Amino acid sequence: MGSKTTKIRTTFACTECGAQSPKWAGRCTECGDWNTLVEELVGGDDPAANVPLAPTKRSGPMRIGDVPTDIARPISTGIDELDAVLGGGLVAGSVTLLGGEPGIGKSTLLLQLLAARQGATLYVSAEESAQQVRLRAERLDAIRPDLWLQSETSLPHILQAIDDTAPELVVIDSIQTVADPALSSPPGSVGQVRGCAHRLVNEAKERNIAVVLVGHVTKEGSLAGPRVLEHVVDTVLQFEGDRHHALRLLRATKHRFGPTNELGLFEMVGAGLVAVPDPSTLFLADRRTGIPGSAVVPTMEGRRPIVIELQSLTTEAIPNVPCRRSAQGIDGGRLSMLMAVLGRRGRLKVGDHDVYASAAGGAKITEPGLDLGICLAVASAMSDTPLPPDLAVFGEVGLGGEIRQVSHAPRRITEAVRLGFSRVILPAKSPEPDEDVRDHVRLIRVDTIAAALRAAGLDGSSGSGLRAV
Ligand code: TYD
Ligand code: MG
Repeated sequence: MGSKTTKIRTTFACTECGAQSPKWAGRCTECGDWNTLVEELVGGDDPAANVPLAPTKRSGPMRIGDVPTDIARPISTGIDELDAVLGGGLVAGSVTLLGGEPGIGKSTLLLQLLAARQGATLYVSAEESAQQVRLRAERLDAIRPDLWLQSETSLPHILQAIDDTAPELVVIDSIQTVADPALSSPPGSVGQVRGCAHRLVNEAKERNIAVVLVGHVTKEGSLAGPRVLEHVVDTVLQFEGDRHHALRLLRATKHRFGPTNELGLFEMVGAGLVAVPDPSTLFLADRRTGIPGSAVVPTMEGRRPIVIELQSLTTEAIPNVPCRRSAQGIDGGRLSMLMAVLGRRGRLKVGDHDVYASAAGGAKITEPGLDLGICLAVASAMSDTPLPPDLAVFGEVGLGGEIRQVSHAPRRITEAVRLGFSRVILPAKSPEPDEDVRDHVRLIRVDTIAAALRAAGLDGSSGSGLRAV
C-alpha cells in the first residue's frame, strides 16, 4: 500500500479576488486588476486550494417561521459609537473584519472593545508581543481579569487558546499574520489568509462566539489580501482618517445584521479613542471666516447631519499642460465632473486653472449634497471673493447644471441653524424645515448652478472682480 504522495505545484493567485491562474499575467482575468497575481505553492491536498466559501454545516430545511431569531440579536459592545455603526452591537456567531491603514487605531479600538465587554474575551496578537499589548492596555485602562491575551501566529495554537479560555468574543490582530502550518502556501499568502479566515469563520459559527479579524489595507484603500475575505465574513468595518489628525471615522461597508450607512466618530487622545458627540463643532473649530474658497455644507452620514467646511484653491494652469484636479477627503472623479459643469453651465473659466479642493479637518465624505458646496468653494476661490460667514449650502449638481434635491433637507437646515448659520442655499424643491427653525434662517432656493452663483454673489460671467452678497 503506497502512501498518497502530495504533489507540490505552483500556481498564481490574485491578491484581490483570490482567483487562481496556472501562469503569471499582468492582469487578473477574473477581476481585471493589474499586478495582483502572486506565485503560490499548492500541495495536492492543500485544503486552502479548494476552500468552500460558506461553512458546510449540514442542516435540513425548516419552515421560515420556525427559524430561531435569537441567535442574530446584537449584543451591545459597550462603546456607543461602535454600537451605532453595527446597529446595536456584535452578533454571537458572526465574524467581523476591521480594515484600516497601519497606525489608524485598530488595535486600540479592539482592546477597548474587549475591555468594555462583560464575560471572557480573548485578544490574539499576531503582530505584537504580549508585553507590548499589556503596556497599551494599561494606558487604555483595559486591564481586566476576564481579558485573555495570547501572542501567537499559528492557527492551531489560536484554536487551542479559544478552547482553553472559552471566550464570548475573540479578536485576531491581524488575519494577515496568522498562518496554518497544515497549509503549504507561505505565511501571508492568499491561500493562507483565506484558509485561516475560513477556519475561524467555522469556529465562530460552531461555538457561537463573535470573532473580529483585523485586516490591513493597502495605500489605495482596499483590503490587502483576497477580496474573498469580504465574502466570507458577515460584517466589514472600515476605520479611516488622516493619521495626522485625531479624528477617526468608522463605517460598515458590509453588514448582514443591519444598515451600513451609519458613521461612528472617534478622536484619538492620550487615553485611547473617545467618542465625538458633536462632530460639526469639531469640524468647524478651526474655520476662519472671510477667506475666499471656503464653503460650509451640512452633509448627511447615515441619519446624522454633520456640518463640514470645504476648501478650494485655484491657480492658473501652465499652458499646454493638462490642468490639475486635486481632491482630498472628497471624490476626485466627482470634482472633475463638477469642474466641467461649472465651466460649461456656470461659465467659469476653470478649464485653464488647476483646482485643489478638500474637506477640512481630515473628513472623508462622498455624498451628492456636497456638490453645490464644492462648486461655490471653487467659484469663491476663482473670484477671490469670500462667501458670507453665515451662509451654508447643500445640493446635488447634475450634468445639465441643474440643482437636484438631496436626502434629509430639513435635518441639514436644522443642524446648520444650530451652529449659527442664518442663510442656506439649497435645491429649489427641498421640503420645508420645522416652523421654529424656519424663523431663524433665510432659505435661498435655487434650481441651476448659474442661479446658485448669483445667489452667493459669485456670478461668474466676467471671471473676476465679483460682488459679495
Ligand atoms: P494602533 O491601535 O496601534 O493602530 P493600528 O493597530 O491600526 O496599527 O494605534 C496607533 C496610534 O495611535 C499610535 O501611533 C499611537 C496612537 N495612540 C494614541 O494616541 N493614544 C493611545 O492611547 C494609544 C493606545 C495609541
Ligand atoms: Mg495594530
